[in-house]
Parts: sequence; C-alpha cells; structure tokens
Amino acid sequence: MKNKDTITVVDNRNNNKFEFKIKKGSFGPDVADLTAFYSKTGMFVYDPGFTSTASCSSEITFIDGEKGILLHRGYKIEDLAEKSDYPEVCYLLLNGELPDVENKKKFIKILTNHTMLHEQLLRFYSGFRRDSHPMAVMVGIVGALSSFYSEKNYDFSSTEGMWVAVSRLLAKLPTMAAMAYKYSLGQPFIYPKNNLSYSENFLHMLFSTPCGEYHPSKASIEALDKLLILHADHEQNASTSTVKMAGSSGANPFACVAAGVASLWGPAHGGANESVIRMLNEIGSVNNIQKFIEKAKDKTDSFRLMGFGHRVYKNYDPRANVLRKYCHNLLKEIDSFNVPLFKLATKLEEIALNDSYFIKKKLYPNVDFYSGIILKALGMPESMFTVIFAVARTVGWISQWKEMTELTNNKISRPRQLYTGKNKREFIEIEERRNIKKMYPGEIK
Ligand code: CMC
Repeated sequence: MKNKDTITVVDNRNNNKFEFKIKKGSFGPDVADLTAFYSKTGMFVYDPGFTSTASCSSEITFIDGEKGILLHRGYKIEDLAEKSDYPEVCYLLLNGELPDVENKKKFIKILTNHTMLHEQLLRFYSGFRRDSHPMAVMVGIVGALSSFYSEKNYDFSSTEGMWVAVSRLLAKLPTMAAMAYKYSLGQPFIYPKNNLSYSENFLHMLFSTPCGEYHPSKASIEALDKLLILHADHEQNASTSTVKMAGSSGANPFACVAAGVASLWGPAHGGANESVIRMLNEIGSVNNIQKFIEKAKDKTDSFRLMGFGHRVYKNYDPRANVLRKYCHNLLKEIDSFNVPLFKLATKLEEIALNDSYFIKKKLYPNVDFYSGIILKALGMPESMFTVIFAVARTVGWISQWKEMTELTNNKISRPRQLYTGKNKREFIEIEERRNIKKMYPGEIK
C-alpha cells in the first residue's frame, strides 16, 4: 500500500519520480522533509529569502500568518500582553511553562543579581564616536561580553554554561542599552537599582542623572513592559535565524547575540520603528499623505510605507492589534491626538487601511508602526527605539539558541546556491601585469 505521508516530486525532463516524507507539526502546516533532496535528485532546493523553508523544528513560538495568530509555548500573545509581565514571559520562553510563585521569585532574583557590568567593560564605550548610533555601540558592546564570558571558563553546551549565557544576557542588556544612550548624550552612566522591576530599572537607567532621580509613571512602566512582551520572540525571523546560524558553528553565545543585534538593526526588520517616525517627519503634514501613498505604490520609487506589511502576517499582526488599542488609548490619555505627528500617524493609518493597493497586497500596519508612535509618545529618543526592541528580543534569541544547542543532532547551517557566474576558464598570464605583482605599491607609476 502506498504511504500517504509522502510527497512525490516528478522531474518532467525524464519522468523520474522522487518520494519525500511529510512531517507533521503539532499545529500549523506540515513540511516536506527535503533533507535528502540533493542526494536523491542531484538538485538543490531554491528558496531565496526562505519564503517556503522551515529551517528547523521548534517548540517555542507558533505563528499562523493567515489567521493572525501568535502563540508562545501555546499561550496567545494577547493573553500574555494583558495578564503577564516581561520576566514571566522570559521564563515561559526559556522553560516551556509559566513559573510557579517560587520559581518566579527565583527567576527575578537571577535577572536582578547580574544587572551590573564589569567596570572594565565600561571603558569600551569611550572607544565609540560620541555621535554613534546606539545600535552601533550595542553591536560592539554585546560582542565584547564574549571576552568576559569565554570558552576558557564556561562550557556553553552544558546546562550550567547555557544558564550563565541566558542570565547574563537578560540581566545586562538593559544596563548596556541605557549606557549606550547615556554615552550618546555625554551623561554619566547610571547604575542599575535592584529594588526596581525590570522595566522600571531600565527607565531609571535611561533617564535618571546623578543630579536627579527619574521616577517613571505607572503608565510608562506598564507601556514599556507591554512593548517588551510583544517583541520578546517571533519564531525564525531574520535576527533569530542570524543568532542560530552563528551559533550552529558552536560560536560563543554572546558573540551570536551581537550578530542578532546587527541583523535587527536594518529598516526592514527592527529598524522599522525608528524609520516610522523619520517617515512621518518626512511626510510632514496630513496634506502630503496622498503624495507619499502614491510614492509607496510606484514601482519605480524605492519608498515604502515604513511600519506596513509583514513577511508572515497577511491578515493582521496580532501584536499590532494589541498595540493599536493601547496606542489610541495612550494618545487619548496624554491628550496627544492633536499633536501634529500623531494626528498625521492616525490619518496615514486610516488612509492606508482603506487604499485598494494596501488592501489587495495585505499590507497592514505592523507592530513597529505602533511601537514607534508609543515610544515617541512616551518621550523615548528615536535612536533608542531599535535598541529597546533588541533588549526585548534578547530572550527570544537566547531561548532559540538554547533550544538548538540542546539538540543532539545539531548541524552547522550551510545553505547552497544556484551558481550563475562564469564557467571554468583558462588563466591567461600577461607579463606586464605579473610584473606589477612584484612591485611595492609605492613603485607603481
Ligand atoms: N509599502 C509599500 N509597498 C509594500 C510595502 C510597504 N511597506 N511592503 C510590501 N510592499 C509591496 C512590495 O512592493 C511588493 O509588491 P509587488 O508584489 O508588486 O512587487 C509586495 O508588497 C510584497 O512585498 P515584499 O517585499 O515581497 O514582501 P516581504 O514579505 O519580502 O517583505 C517587509 C516584508 C516587512 C520587509 C515589507 O513589507 C517592508 O519592507 N515593510 C516596511 C518595513 C517594515 O515595516 N518592517 C517591519 C516588519 S515587522 C517587525 C519585524 O519583523 O522586525
């Protein structure tokens, strides 16, 4: 009897048939197991941008882009955002279950016990140009952690070593991020305060000065905590895949997370929240919206509406749905609907949601559209928007890295390609060119 859990690929050039197993997940689309595709067919699978490729199996996060569903360990993002807090979500992503009371207390202690940076690390900051983007500083500083936590002292494939990486990264990222901001202002670094919650401590380090302590409002602490939850993990996105690709070679986890920070920085990924505000400033006034909508639709123009569209969500982004309500309430609460930038944002949202191009292409406002506006409304400097995303996503990166490292059959990530370059050709020696090779650069006339 024919095995039904297979897929047959027919090479129409010669009618050869190849059978591949179909693997079933616990939820969502099945996958065709093409690991033997090359050995069976002699061909590679071509999928630039990985639009149809499942790069791994994972138990952490589930997304159904058509239905707008995002689950972490089975829990709906809407429930987590409403009923949980960021440390609890971190625990869930890392351990698979929500913590009981004792474990929550222990976990919070871990997060607060490692918030300080080694004093030696602080000297790295002064090596960066004063006007550096804080994300540039973050790439360097997070990478530098690998010299403090190295393979000399830790076996990162052991449970103990993994937890050193997890706890130090989660606890230290807000401190590093706040210091990157302080450095850009030329203000003294503010040390962490371990009697404050994760989000409150982060705001304290960002906005307190030695001359005056900043006491954030309850609304700001809650807003930041929600933003951290909503950005905590998102399956195999570009930055997470970057962390895992780097980690698949057995590289130091702190260096792998630095690679994730670099990947997140781009405007098509985490950099979009900052680009949203830049775009709104460029549009300038409600009267110009239509002109920019036309630019976004024009295929000869590279302009895109930042904060719109998503690779996976083709219905709506559930994170954006949570933030949309929150954003509108916040603007009402702080009486900012009439602030020109926010007026412009709400009008742009309305126009784009009703425009046939955006409807047909399923381009909805994404999480970065609203997070950009919320962070702006909270008085956060624009250059810090993507840094805050990086702080939030660190738990996703490290959870996914940990899951990969715990596998016994982990393989180095090594994609192949469709080669379109020159065929083998003969090297023709030209004597004069060969002579140049023998000269010192200063001798070349
Ligand atoms: N404005 C105008 N047109 C767009 C936009 C946009 N923001 N996004 C996609 N399109 C068009 C695109 O031109 C293409 O049209 P056509 O089929 O005629 O060639 C079609 O929609 C599909 O776009 P794509 O680039 O093939 O889609 P993708 O899945 O590769 O890209 C995306 C997804 C998020 C990179 C893209 O929508 C985009 O650049 N959006 C703006 C940047 C942004 O907001 N990024 C944040 C993403 S959410 C948070 C995160 O993941 O970090």
